[in-house]
Amino acid sequence: MQKTNPEHAMKQIKLEINIDVRHYDELTEEDRKLTDAAREATNRSYAPYSHFSVGAAALLENGIVISGSNQENAAYPSGLCAERTTLFYANSQYPDQAVKTLAIAARTEEDFLDTPIPPCGACRQVLLETEKRFGKPIRILLYGKKNIYILKGIGKLLPLSFGGDYLK
Ligand code: THU
Repeated sequence: MQKTNPEHAMKQIKLEINIDVRHYDELTEEDRKLTDAAREATNRSYAPYSHFSVGAAALLENGIVISGSNQENAAYPSGLCAERTTLFYANSQYPDQAVKTLAIAARTEEDFLDTPIPPCGACRQVLLETEKRFGKPIRILLYGKKNIYILKGIGKLLPLSFGGDYLK
């Protein structure tokens, strides 16, 4: 029988995540406006393939709000999610401005979803890079008609993440 090294046996790393859950009416005016901008941005989505429209709105440190939406392509992987469209646009227009908060909303052709959609893995990685770039966490507001999830930063959504530190 193979012997286990007692040093390594039964060790676990536990990762916990706390998400504040709110209703739209309980948000601050600033958060409500940003959520509204993300919802409105879904109207500018280009989603002829999935018919799933996602909008995002980034509040920058200088108070400017940049919004974006998912942009699809007949060559499917060439399309881009709302979160990355928005962050890349914000960073390319205002490379010196940290992103304070990012709101995200999604709807089908019928209506907005009751519960929020979380950002995909690639968008989480870009959120992480944006946080690292400016050295500040990005608050994330995930809009749902019934619930809004509020996260203090992307860290908890992307544990054991790969970042530029490993390249040094
Ligand atoms: N999508 C986003 O824009 N953000 C997400 O977080 C998840 C998915 C888009 C990509 C694609 O255009 C459509 O939603 C269906 O996956």
